Amino acid sequence: MQVVLTVNGRMRKAEVPPATTLLELLREHLGLRGTKCGCGNGECGACTVILDGEPVTSCIVFAAQCEGREVLTIEGLSKESGELDRIQQAFIDAGAVQCGYCTPGMIMSAAALLSKNPHPSRDDIAVALAGNLCRCTGYVKIVDAVEAASLTNE
Ligand code: FES
Ligand code: FES
Repeated sequence: MQVVLTVNGRMRKAEVPPATTLLELLREHLGLRGTKCGCGNGECGACTVILDGEPVTSCIVFAAQCEGREVLTIEGLSKESGELDRIQQAFIDAGAVQCGYCTPGMIMSAAALLSKNPHPSRDDIAVALAGNLCRCTGYVKIVDAVEAASLTNE
């Protein structure tokens, strides 16, 4: 089946088997490997992308459900010049990245939060990131990073 959708501002088409997930579509058919597969069943948040403004775990969304819709992935956050988005930079500055496997999903959840709530409390941040698991950092630096990014909001 063919799926046509907008990914990171560009219209993309792909021919995929019917049970293809959005995660598989992104990684295997569109070559966007920044989005990670952790558990594959909606529990770890590593595969989080933004679908029509809402964060979703792309491993449990079918590609067919995304027909005509708009997806933002970690690749779409940085500027065309390669300059990092403020959330990406804040993760680096706060030391919130260790192995990095959870990081794209964390950042996409944070981006969805900040687009709706530009100045969240630390509790708001913790709630927004509750579905994103990190085995390395202990979460404090991740919350620090999102809070720092929020302070750069205009
Ligand atoms: S890989 Fe999708 S939630 Fe874990
Ligand atoms: S930095 Fe390793 S899982 Fe989060």
